[in-house]
Amino acid sequence: PPSEPPKNGHHDLIVVANRLPVDRKVAADGTTSWVPSPGGLVTALEPVMQRNAGAWVGWSGSAGEAPEPFEARGIRLIPVMLDEREVEEFYEGMANSTLWPLYHDVVARPQFHRSWWESYEQVNQRFADRAAAEAAPNALVWVQDYQLQLVPQMLRRLRPDLRIGFFNHIPFPPYELFAQLPWRRRVLEGLLGADQLGFQRPADANNFLRACRRNGLSTRRGMVQLPGEPRFGSPDHHPRREVNAAAFPISIDARAVQELAERPEIQMRAKEIRRELGDPRVVLLGVDRLDYTKGILHRLKAVEELFEDGDLEAQDAVLVQVATPSRERVDQYQKMRQDVEVTVGRINGDYGKIGHPAVHYLHQAYGRDELAALYLAADVLLVTALRDGMNLVAKEYVATRYDEGGALVLSEFAGAANELPQAFLINPHDIDGMKAQIMRAVHVTPKEAQRRMRAMRRRVFDHDVARWASTFLKVAASAVEPNAVASVS
Ligand code: ADP
Ligand code: G6P
Repeated sequence: PPSEPPKNGHHDLIVVANRLPVDRKVAADGTTSWVPSPGGLVTALEPVMQRNAGAWVGWSGSAGEAPEPFEARGIRLIPVMLDEREVEEFYEGMANSTLWPLYHDVVARPQFHRSWWESYEQVNQRFADRAAAEAAPNALVWVQDYQLQLVPQMLRRLRPDLRIGFFNHIPFPPYELFAQLPWRRRVLEGLLGADQLGFQRPADANNFLRACRRNGLSTRRGMVQLPGEPRFGSPDHHPRREVNAAAFPISIDARAVQELAERPEIQMRAKEIRRELGDPRVVLLGVDRLDYTKGILHRLKAVEELFEDGDLEAQDAVLVQVATPSRERVDQYQKMRQDVEVTVGRINGDYGKIGHPAVHYLHQAYGRDELAALYLAADVLLVTALRDGMNLVAKEYVATRYDEGGALVLSEFAGAANELPQAFLINPHDIDGMKAQIMRAVHVTPKEAQRRMRAMRRRVFDHDVARWASTFLKVAASAVEPNAVASVS
């Protein structure tokens, strides 16, 4: 290990995430443009980084040479490059065909390939090297999500002066599932390079602590105690340390979401959307990345049966399903897209009328404005995830509804359910139960809807993303003096 930390970096706060907040798109004619990246991680971190001076180290979303650091959307961006093979093995492979399904309760079958793991190590090292080169002495580096679980340990080896935080945006699985991972020990060691580990729910933090105990470490009140030998998770120059693991449920910039919804043009657009849909009595809405964890097929099944039973009728009720394209080269996503599209086609064939499809399916990325208008236009938002770390769409819907109208149907298996118990909670595997809750949401009285929405809004506005970030950063920054030996009793 270096005795003196390199002095070349000058950023006091660095976020390291697989994705930059903007995605490079290369058109057929070779011209490039930058568009907002999909997903909850970017939604949450972008406003945090816009308010804090700092840098964001991440990948541009396409293979090939990384551009020079640049400024976009008010943030200093430092691109890291992935080549074609790394996109396949690290991103589409290890991250999204192994860890993603494994951590989401094996909703899909994870694949284990040694070459993918090697690529994962290599790419994690590249992110760690880049962050190490950019960080000022004693800086705080905040590593994000399952794609970069080895970075904390790699970074600590390179720069023992840094404070290191890690936040996992997705669930951390029960040990019985985590144990399937051939590299489980390496992953734990990687994470334990951090001073502070954050998870979405207390259950995720507990799953992590249990994994540590099952691998021979002791834990006390959320602290993992690393022994003072160059053994497990204990890089030699850091003899004894404690690592804290706790829940920090992520959130959104609720005020900004509401301000957008209050703009007259967004309200006009919401009315226009209802008109364009043929002025149905009931508008149901789903907004998700097209991902098998989101339970889109389960939702469609429930809606199909409601049309079949006559509880919903096509001129009277519609489902608008926005499905953002995601991870389109991964087999399981291609298969899922086919299943969704066949199902939508079948429902429309069976229950649609001329000029009145039962399901409006939109496989497109929408801007914030159009999403806000859709949230305002919807009577019921359907969040039916089979497993989800948090689900920010649920919180965005609540923040949008300054009119205290609308109803939220929310899966118990989304982290958001812990915070929003006033939603119409469902188990998406229980199709009859889900149908009954959807119909309760459709028929809810305005007074009851308002009571529920008001309580949920209070929660989302009190616990917004600024509070999430400041709480995490405060504990991470106050971690024991970097080179001191933690007292382990
Ligand atoms: P995940 O992180 O798994 O994608 P979340 O619900 O936590 O799920 O976050 C999704 C984010 O992506 C939300 O901020 C949502 O507004 C945004 N989003 C989802 N679908 C679209 C879309 N079609 N166009 C633009 N943004 C979208
Ligand atoms: C989820 C993950 C993020 C990821 C996002 C979009 O929110 O937690 O880490 O960035 O999905 O997925 P993608 O593969 O497009 O980055």
